[in-house]
Amino acid sequence: MITTERLVLRRARMSDLEDLHRVFSNPAAMRYWDSLPYKETEQTQRLLESMVAASPEESDDFVIEHEGHAIGKAGCWRLGEIGFILHPDHWGKGLAREALCAAIPHVFECLPIDRLEADVDPRNDASLKLLSRLGFREVGRAARTILVGDEWCDSVYLELSRASWKEALPD
Ligand SMILES: CC(C)(COP(=O)(O)OP(=O)(O)OC[C@H]1O[C@@H](n2cnc3c(N)ncnc32)[C@H](O)[C@@H]1OP(=O)(O)O)[C@@H](O)C(=O)NCCC(=O)NCCS
Repeated sequence: MITTERLVLRRARMSDLEDLHRVFSNPAAMRYWDSLPYKETEQTQRLLESMVAASPEESDDFVIEHEGHAIGKAGCWRLGEIGFILHPDHWGKGLAREALCAAIPHVFECLPIDRLEADVDPRNDASLKLLSRLGFREVGRAARTILVGDEWCDSVYLELSRASWKEALPD
């Protein structure tokens, strides 16, 4: 568990289902995710089950808790890959940045990786801005990488190297 000024970052629990379903069923939060907003609670339940069962050798992923509720998640969900999502009620307050500033050092301490990678839709301005402020740099682009519903989406690939994270992250 990691405590920051406004957040608690901790492992997922099945009791997060109701709170996290609010996030993963939200169309704005899911606009650039790799799937459509979850309609069924069972979809969030499957995601939670995979988070709870995730191997500590390959992932370091956190539920973001704020004022007693799970409001999103952030961390390394698969070896070397960063992911994050917050309910829109909590956007624009620096909370995602606060979560990642705590999660990223933890990821580099716990996992034997040389770099963290992100795969972001080029229209996802908020995520690109956040990653850029955290020191991630663009390393490539590709078109039509994922089909979400009936819409093909593109990818911007970004990386943060182990060597540069310390100087990139704020104190
Ligand atoms: C990506 C996402 C987490 C970013 O959330 P966010 O709240 O914009 O990100 P930050 O925590 O960095 O907050 C930055 C904003 O808070 C403002 N802010 C307010 N108080 C602040 C503080 N104390 N510290 C820092 N920023 C603060 C900043 O000015 C900035 O606002 P701006 O974008 O209007 O300039 C959010 O948009 C999201 O959940 N998106 C959907 C999921 C998604 O697409 N994930 C990525 C898939 S690859």
